[in-house]
Amino acid sequence: MTKQRQKRKLDHIEYALRLGKPETSSGFEEIRLINDSLPGFSLGDVDTTCVFMGKRLAAPLLINAITGGHPAVANINKSLARVARQTGVAMAVGSQMAGLEDPGLRQTYEVARQENPDGVLLANLSAGAPPEQAAAAVEMISANGLQLYLNVPQELAMREGDRDFNGVIDNIREVTSRLSVPVVVKEVGFGLSRETISALYNAGVRYVDVGGQGGTNFIEIEDMRSGQKSSEGVRNWGIPTAVSLLEGLSLELPILIIASGGLETGVDVAKALALGTGMAGMAKIFLKELTDKSEEGLINKITGIINELRLVMLMSGAKNLAQLVKKPVLVTGSVAEWMIRRGID
Ligand code: FNR
Repeated sequence: MTKQRQKRKLDHIEYALRLGKPETSSGFEEIRLINDSLPGFSLGDVDTTCVFMGKRLAAPLLINAITGGHPAVANINKSLARVARQTGVAMAVGSQMAGLEDPGLRQTYEVARQENPDGVLLANLSAGAPPEQAAAAVEMISANGLQLYLNVPQELAMREGDRDFNGVIDNIREVTSRLSVPVVVKEVGFGLSRETISALYNAGVRYVDVGGQGGTNFIEIEDMRSGQKSSEGVRNWGIPTAVSLLEGLSLELPILIIASGGLETGVDVAKALALGTGMAGMAKIFLKELTDKSEEGLINKITGIINELRLVMLMSGAKNLAQLVKKPVLVTGSVAEWMIRRGID
């Protein structure tokens, strides 16, 4: 089991990087911000900083969960953490189950904390992991928070995946109440619905990452791993990221919603923030930048995204993130239609 899990870590990186352009859209092309010709302040006045998990970040950006758990991926976490420190953004490690099962693999996660002692670092486990493992994962990397991932379609597409999803919400409630740090419940590319987010809120969760459709597709990755196309019929399953954000935001709950799943640009980030989300996460495009280029390449990518966010904020007339969220946002096309059909205005 442990060997299989370790191999899977390498497979996920290899196949994620091989994926072509997603067949489905994240829906951000249907979200429009409005040009403000009279912003009345200068580009230098624009403030993209925010506070997340009690710490100030240069911008509300998260290098989302990718890896750990195989000796060959320790360098990836090391580089991601160095980039997170230098750019002032948050980071999550990948699922720590391998490190909990085999202490020899802990170092592949611990490097992230060693490289960024004062940054925001999130631990990561399946939402089915019991409270003792959740606490151990947080302790392993002195994490500021814990991501619990939900990934039913991926498990079903995985030959060795779970088939029993009983008791997950009770476990999330238990972990959330017993842990000393905040819990973020995230999807991995299939999106959270309004009903799911409401159930998570009722279980005590105050941070959700919608992990919507339109970016990395784990059904496709699992089909590539198995060499079969058994899941081809359901490959486009999921809720587009922009839709999932609007589903969650429509609840008007006191929660922080993180936008992720197919985000690529500073414009996407600005749109998500203007809608009312508190953070934006990206996984695959950051991994690709790092592996295709270097740490320097990824630093340039992230600073480029932050600069683009700054431009869009100025062009929308928003000096800071509190002002950005008050700016008008238009929702058009299929995203608007989804909202109407779901009775969300
Ligand atoms: C992931 N993702 C992920 N998520 C998680 O919660 N635990 C994990 O261990 C992993 N592992 C992982 C490996 C690789 C190679 C990739 C590309 C992604 C999912 C990730 O955090 C994110 O939710 C999705 O990838 C959607 O975001 P992007 O890639 O579309 O920006």
